Amino acid sequence: MLRAGLVGLAFSLPLLALSSPDSAAERRAPVDYLATCRNISAAISNKSQVFFPLALQYIADNAHFATSSSDLSACSVEPGTPEDVSVIVSLPGGGHSLNPGFSSTKGVQISMTRFNQVTVNSSAGTVDVGSGLTWDQVYEALDGTGINVVGGRVPGVGVAGFTLGGGYSWLSSQFGLTIDNIAAYQLVLPNGTITTVTKEDEDLFFAIRGIVTRFTLVSHPQGEVWGGLIIYGAIEIDAVKAAISTFLQADDPKAALLVNFNFIPPGPLFITVLVFYDGPTPPPGIFDGFMSIPRLQFGVSSGSFVDFIKGLPASDPLSGTRGRFNAISFPSYPESVIDAFINETTTWGEKLTGLDLGLFLSYTLEPFDQGLLTHGPPSAYPADRSIFAQPSDIYFAWGDPANDDVMTDALHQTTAALHAAGLAQGEDLSDVPVYPNYALADTPLENMFGANIPRLQALRKEYDPADVMVLAGGFRF
Ligand SMILES: *[C@@H]1O[C@H](CO)[C@@H](O)[C@H](O)[C@H]1NC(C)=O
Ligand SMILES: *[C@@H]1O[C@H](CO)[C@@H](O)[C@H](O)[C@H]1NC(C)=O
Ligand SMILES: *[C@@H]1O[C@H](CO)[C@@H](O)[C@H](O)[C@H]1NC(C)=O
Ligand SMILES: *[C@@H]1O[C@H](CO)[C@@H](O)[C@H](O)[C@H]1NC(C)=O
Ligand SMILES: *[C@@H]1O[C@H](CO)[C@@H](O)[C@H](O)[C@H]1NC(C)=O
Repeated sequence: MLRAGLVGLAFSLPLLALSSPDSAAERRAPVDYLATCRNISAAISNKSQVFFPLALQYIADNAHFATSSSDLSACSVEPGTPEDVSVIVSLPGGGHSLNPGFSSTKGVQISMTRFNQVTVNSSAGTVDVGSGLTWDQVYEALDGTGINVVGGRVPGVGVAGFTLGGGYSWLSSQFGLTIDNIAAYQLVLPNGTITTVTKEDEDLFFAIRGIVTRFTLVSHPQGEVWGGLIIYGAIEIDAVKAAISTFLQADDPKAALLVNFNFIPPGPLFITVLVFYDGPTPPPGIFDGFMSIPRLQFGVSSGSFVDFIKGLPASDPLSGTRGRFNAISFPSYPESVIDAFINETTTWGEKLTGLDLGLFLSYTLEPFDQGLLTHGPPSAYPADRSIFAQPSDIYFAWGDPANDDVMTDALHQTTAALHAAGLAQGEDLSDVPVYPNYALADTPLENMFGANIPRLQALRKEYDPADVMVLAGGFRF
């Protein structure tokens, strides 16, 4: 999912689901990026640094999770203080060639890796988290403190993009999305002003415009947890379906589940299940089905939250892989919809087998408690919190750039087929929001942000009249 180290802007989070090759940067008048890089280098403090091609840090700052979203920048800059971020965006030429996002740029790549502090504020019941961290680093820092925050579910997920997109966590059925657990954002506005935004600043809190340097997260008590990864072969599909249905009936917000239907040529599909309970042992019933099925691999145990996270597969796949996500959300997962997920995995897996040596397909069900969206104030996403929806993620990975169009087209088709299966079952999908962190780049804004779009457009005009942040890639207002 998200790449560590690079800052996320609000609504610029589609990660790999990115951006057309001809970015806004190229549509603008040509800019002398190297001169901009030199100007930045001269203006920033010694806490920050500019790196040029061939420097190791330049390579690290430009590395993207999937090569399909890589482009080489003129330089990278690692600001070390909010003041230097402010200097960078305020420089002539600076703002117009920056890319503080997950997409690629030919201008200046900003890496936020130096914003890497985790600070517990026990009197306030909050934790300050630098925007350059990954969630596993945050959990590691909190290990042993008895508290935790609501963040990413697998190793390697970056704090900034995950949070600004919404943030579905192992703890979300209990405490809501990650954005519902933000007490404050430290932000550098597009005009260079450094500010701390809280719920009182309604507009900016609703539509973060600028570069986030620090998140202040509400903390929750955390003891031992139970969970891990289990892999089943295709032969167990009916037993797994029965186990999912038992889980869905359990209705315990401390319990969470991710089910992935996966395909690697030549098949057949296999199923990876990630189970979680916020306690040392789950009550009987909820996960019993999963425990009794014969499996290919079993890694479930009790222990610390950080050890549970570290035992899960990382979000970064093999380097050299091209990949795209797409998103679809369902108010419920009836058996016919689960069957459609299984059928899509197998049908597309078999259809695409032979086309690409690096083929890997994964369809994910993410069931949550009905109360999921009741924990936070209105936010850009999800547009309407009265509509309960569970995000599903479809991930296609491949090796050959020549297959980009075929794979992206297949992703569209398979998403449409799942949508049709939901409708056929009588699900009302008309206003169910699509999760922007998983959505393909051409997803209509209406599908994610609905009735919030006019307000978001107005706020963009107000806080970013010069369109500085347009170069961050991702969804635009
Ligand atoms: C960095 O700059 C500060 C003030 O500008 C100075 O006091 C400090 O010695 C410098 N540190 C290094 C390592 O150059
Ligand atoms: C770099 O700074 C110089 C001196 O301030 C200025 O004349 C020039 O336009 C700047 N270059 C860019 C590309 O911003
Ligand atoms: C803890 O948070 C409170 C409330 O926001 C704040 O006033 C205080 O300065 C913070 N303490 C530290 C050490 O940051
Ligand atoms: C399986 O999926 C394919 C591709 O979407 C579709 O054409 C076919 O009708 C589906 N089969 C069933 C039994 O639903
Ligand atoms: C920067 O933008 C903010 C928000 O629009 C505004 O309040 C502030 O006055 C601006 N600062 C400058 C120096 O223009």
